[in-house]
Amino acid sequence: MTPSDDDILEIHKLVGELKGLVQHPVHFYKIIINYFGNSFFIIKEADRIIGLGWGFVSQSNRNIFFLWQIGVLKEFRGKNIANRLIEKLIKFAKDNNCKKVHATVETGNIASWKMFEKMDFKNVSKGNIIFENGKKAIVNYYGSGTNQILYEYKL
Ligand SMILES: CC(C)(COP(=O)(O)OP(=O)(O)OC[C@H]1O[C@@H](n2cnc3c(N)ncnc32)[C@H](O)[C@@H]1OP(=O)(O)O)[C@@H](O)C(=O)NCCC(=O)NCCS
Repeated sequence: MTPSDDDILEIHKLVGELKGLVQHPVHFYKIIINYFGNSFFIIKEADRIIGLGWGFVSQSNRNIFFLWQIGVLKEFRGKNIANRLIEKLIKFAKDNNCKKVHATVETGNIASWKMFEKMDFKNVSKGNIIFENGKKAIVNYYGSGTNQILYEYKL
């Protein structure tokens, strides 16, 4: 399902609990949900949000859907929930005529790169490259000091 305004505070709190994701301010999630909410997916169990995945279609290159954040509450991991969220995001991208999905992952986030590779995302990192944890990554990709693997899924 996609979130409503009532879910915003819970989403903000959930992201704060997920190591590996950056918690943006509350108003950021409100803006994203209000303006890009159709590509923001949550999974609830017993009225509690246990997983989320969101991104949006690039406005400078509409062939690309950028998957920004995906996360699952610790006690619900290993149950295919991220897989289901990625399938929803891929379907959204396809339905919106995108040709590829992009996502970036830090080399140290092993669960995450294993997840993307399991789902057939390819490591397309190029340019200023480093090898870390056996993975090719782009040095300081965001300018914030972290090396990132750039993943691409062809639709
Ligand atoms: C990465 C994350 C979203 C995976 O969620 P999940 O619901 O447990 O993942 P799934 O159960 O759908 O697993 C899908 C595949 O990912 C891989 N995977 C997931 N967790 C893994 C782990 N801890 N170790 C190794 N592989 C893992 C497996 O290949 C798995 O498929 P399989 O079980 O059939 O082998 C979750 O660990 C998480 O929320 N991490 C913190 C937030 C984060 O880092 N997000 C990604 C930022 S880019």
